[in-house]
Amino acid sequence: MKRILTGLQPTGIIHLGNYIGSIKQMIDMQDKYDSFIFVADLHAITIPQDSKELSDNIKKLIALYIACGIDPNKNTIFIQSENIYHTNISWMLECNTYYGELSRMTQFKDKSSKNANFTSGLLTYPVLMASDILAYDTDLVPVGIDQKQHVELTRDIAIRFNNKYGDTFKVPEPYMTKVGTKIMDLQDPLHKMSKSSENQKGVIRLLDEPEIIRKKIMSATTDSETRIIYDPENKPGISNLINIYSSITNMSIKDIENKFKDNNYGEFKKEVADVTINLISEIQDKYYKLLNSNELDNILDKGRDKTIEIAKVKYEEMKKKIGLYR
Ligand code: TYM
Repeated sequence: MKRILTGLQPTGIIHLGNYIGSIKQMIDMQDKYDSFIFVADLHAITIPQDSKELSDNIKKLIALYIACGIDPNKNTIFIQSENIYHTNISWMLECNTYYGELSRMTQFKDKSSKNANFTSGLLTYPVLMASDILAYDTDLVPVGIDQKQHVELTRDIAIRFNNKYGDTFKVPEPYMTKVGTKIMDLQDPLHKMSKSSENQKGVIRLLDEPEIIRKKIMSATTDSETRIIYDPENKPGISNLINIYSSITNMSIKDIENKFKDNNYGEFKKEVADVTINLISEIQDKYYKLLNSNELDNILDKGRDKTIEIAKVKYEEMKKKIGLYR
């Protein structure tokens, strides 16, 4: 059975882009793959975090995974920082990764340009991500398009290590659905929906109240035309809403254009709001039941023990190949 793995950062409540770009893909694949999903809490601390808030967000994210439909019986669910081998492996990979490669990563350039006082963790972040992926001989990595470059770097690091030390890592592939790999901000559809967006009206969070979600979708930026046609270049707002509708309903873009050919933007937005609220209300019902149950701890203990066992084998193999032994 092929293995898939993905992680999300516990920085604030996840949004519809995270759900569509990553969680939904994992749910759609969980019956056919050996599936691993984790909370990337060590990635979160590459930028400053409030300790109490971070700890709360870790637990909330795990509850949200399961509420969204990640089945604990079909997935190995764990917290990155509970497995020390991720950082140990990461160091050995860092020593086989070039500064130039890391400094050219788009996300690094973007984030470091916004704050001159960035940490070195922000630079080495993609190597920790490579370690997350390579420790488990992952075949496919379901991610949104913004993480594709990091998975490509992971491939380069794996191939380089294999060439230097002999076959050690499986070379993974990024996995992205055609539709919805990049959900855009509702107010500014030229930029991706992002947790750090300044205007919260553009971001739909999975714990937003239904009526707030409706308001955000009804006031989404569109254009001065009236026809519901998919054209990301000239009609980014309406195309984004089509992407959201398509991802949630699994309808093709063509079928959506057909279905709404006689409708105006307002009517289409109402439909998008209805399917989104339907989805999110169901998630929220399950989430609030789960949040305070012991079930989460049992799942996480199992995930921690299993992943430590697997990653330790890879770590020992790397040490031996590099020459780190008596
Ligand atoms: P993070 O937490 O920024 O995002 C989690 C996932 O959501 C996707 N995503 C989006 N997809 C579509 N539209 C959007 N607007 C949107 N915004 C975010 C991201 O592509 C991602 O798949 N570095 C990763 C976490 C990570 C990881 C890993 C992922 C750490 N180690 C190993 C895969 C494998 C991150 O910060 O994702």
